[in-house]
Amino acid sequence: MAQDGAVPNPTREHRIILRYADLPGYTPDIDCYLQHGGYQQLRKALAMDPAAIVAEVKASGLRGRGGAGFPTGTKWGFIDHAKNRKPVYLLCNADESEPGTFKDRQILYKDPHQLIEGMIISSFANHAHLAYIYIRGEMARGARILERALAEARAKNFLGANILGSGYDLDIFVFRGAGAYICGEETGLIESLEGKRAYPRIKPPYFPAALGLYLCPTIVNNVETLCNVKHIVEMGGAAYAKIGTPNNTGTRIWCVSGDVCRPGYFEYDGGAITMGELLYDVCGGIRNGNRLKALIPGGSSAKVLRAGEVYRIRRKNAAGAMEEVEMRLEDLPLDFDTIAASGSMSGSGGIIVMDHTRDMVECLDNLSAFYAHESCGQCTPCREGALWMRKVLDRMTGGQGRPEDPQLLLDLAGQIAGRTICAFGEACSWPVESFVAKFREEFESKAVAKEEQGRLQATH
Ligand SMILES: Cc1cc2nc3c(=O)[nH]c(=O)nc-3n(C[C@H](O)[C@H](O)[C@H](O)COP(=O)(O)O)c2cc1C
Ligand code: SF4
Repeated sequence: MAQDGAVPNPTREHRIILRYADLPGYTPDIDCYLQHGGYQQLRKALAMDPAAIVAEVKASGLRGRGGAGFPTGTKWGFIDHAKNRKPVYLLCNADESEPGTFKDRQILYKDPHQLIEGMIISSFANHAHLAYIYIRGEMARGARILERALAEARAKNFLGANILGSGYDLDIFVFRGAGAYICGEETGLIESLEGKRAYPRIKPPYFPAALGLYLCPTIVNNVETLCNVKHIVEMGGAAYAKIGTPNNTGTRIWCVSGDVCRPGYFEYDGGAITMGELLYDVCGGIRNGNRLKALIPGGSSAKVLRAGEVYRIRRKNAAGAMEEVEMRLEDLPLDFDTIAASGSMSGSGGIIVMDHTRDMVECLDNLSAFYAHESCGQCTPCREGALWMRKVLDRMTGGQGRPEDPQLLLDLAGQIAGRTICAFGEACSWPVESFVAKFREEFESKAVAKEEQGRLQATH
């Protein structure tokens, strides 16, 4: 066992959030958490000025782990506590519905008190006296574990009135989600929490920090983000900011699924490992001796990257000057900025791997079925477009493709992104745009009816 009690890692893995989660004998019970130093940071935080905690989070450079990577300290800074007269709410987004992403549930199932401690500190910093954990409806086991953990925390006065004699009151409740992908979108989540259908709200004016739950200032953060707050209080914002690289501070949990030998979840400092190292050294390479064909780097809504691509990445060099370097897919360091510079996004950290045997039209058809099913239906471009793209793809995979189909798919996707209430519009059209653009030859060969495909093959 490693000296600090963490799970040994031969692959430079640096577990902060998952430090104890998979440790043999570690349980979700509060006694176990306390034996491992639990709730010490809460004691420290309660002795601090809330504004000082916000300042530490700002100094840490922490970016949200739910998808968009928005700086957490900046989000928290949007609430002007000197002027605000309404209650403030803190919501933990534990919906985790993005296909390919399965990191938050590891924390909920294995180390719930870490999240609860992070949430109490975050609530205190934001002057919230009521907080909710919005958990995906299907995660019934997770909800039970959290409810038990909250009761344990209440019994020890880490929650409730006058927490640890500090004069600060807070309660946290678990809210079981309605079981739709759109419940993970922050304003859809708020609507659902208010007991309504999870129709996302138009932003602006409904930025949650201004007009959130019951039209009061509301902070919505992801599970992993809120856990990080505890560690920022422990080590201080400046020390936390030294982990990873500037603008990609701290660690990130990456989940790898698809055609690799050893799928799983792994935690690394920002930029500490390349895509190739993760796929080949950590995940044991591509299954069955096959070759890598493509991957989606940040959950199903991120744009696909194709094996063999070379990217021109603009980044700061050691002297702080901007430089442009060429990188292969395998060379990309895993961080927010480099993956964005490759034309995709690191999103929720879910890496979906496809090997050379995969039919890309079928892969996209599979994704499109999900998006067509999950559109909430409020905006016509999304509701109609997602279904239409699916119908075209179904037709293509069913052997009834038409020559105009690849362009039709691009036209449809182009009519959705940027024309909808919420980012689901981008989430459903980016995969289509990138799959068709990057695997045009496969889409064109499927864009003719089956009989024609057979004739073309026979003449080649
Ligand atoms: C369609 C859609 C689904 C989303 N699902 C989730 C989710 O399951 N979990 C999550 O944390 N964020 C999800 N998000 C992002 C949230 O809207 C929000 O940005 C995030 O919870 C903010 O937390 P963070 O700042 O800590 O990242 C989703 C966004 C969209 C557009
Ligand atoms: S973009 Fe789609 S999911 Fe989002 S509000 Fe519009 S219809 Fe609903």
